[in-house]
Amino acid sequence: MEVVILPDAKEIGAVAADAIGELLGRKPDAVLGLATGSSPLMIYDELAARCDAGSLSFAKARGFTLDEYVGLPIDHPASFRKYLLERLINKTGLTRYHLLDGERDAAAVAERTGRAIAERPVDVAFVGIGENGHLAFNDPPADFATHHPYLIVTLDAACRRQQVGEGWFASIDDVPSQAISMSISQIMKSREIICVVPDARKAVAVKACLDGPVSPTAPASILQTHANAIVYLDRESASLLTPERRGAILTDVSRQSAGGAAADAS
Ligand code: GLP
Repeated sequence: MEVVILPDAKEIGAVAADAIGELLGRKPDAVLGLATGSSPLMIYDELAARCDAGSLSFAKARGFTLDEYVGLPIDHPASFRKYLLERLINKTGLTRYHLLDGERDAAAVAERTGRAIAERPVDVAFVGIGENGHLAFNDPPADFATHHPYLIVTLDAACRRQQVGEGWFASIDDVPSQAISMSISQIMKSREIICVVPDARKAVAVKACLDGPVSPTAPASILQTHANAIVYLDRESASLLTPERRGAILTDVSRQSAGGAAADAS
């Protein structure tokens, strides 16, 4: 795992889009894992702009959704199918995609999508880290052991509060209690992982997951064990990391560009 601190979410979007551009340049039929939520918005905006300008094409790529609420209609503002269709698929021309239909039998959807992803190794997965440290919807304590690609999970109170805080739902009672989620082991099978975590409200989770031990109670801590995971933070989300940790794992672009002494990358 490598950790890079960038000045802000816009920079994170641009750097992550560069990585996708590089991947699609050498492998046009790359398979992508697609996060939703607030963190990847800047990436998807940037990818859409580059497709619009003709500098990037998703025509041969394939995408797998990370997660979706059970029972939520596709026209609900919080629907991840709606989110990906509107923000990525319709804007980039991605034609091969696997959305999770949470309105159908969730176990059957998980099973079917799991069979599809087993045949197509993911080249790069976009992931975020939730306020409770979750990866996709694997809330703590996350199941690190299961080898099912997709799981039916129960959302904890912190996760459901986050969804209200981000404005996707009016109240916690409106947030579905269950979701279909890509499992931790399936996320970890991705050849590369691009994890984007801007914002001060993520600082506690970032510290627990990147500074602390690898533990199901801090689900994203598993990224520490992935050889090709890059975590992009902004100054605010990185603010609680210890100086020792910074020296050991961080490339601090925000400090370099501010003219300060840069921490070593390892
Ligand atoms: C969200 C989504 C995930 C996302 C993660 C972080 O709720 N279920 O796909 O990667 O949890 O989301 P956010 O960026 O909104 O914190």
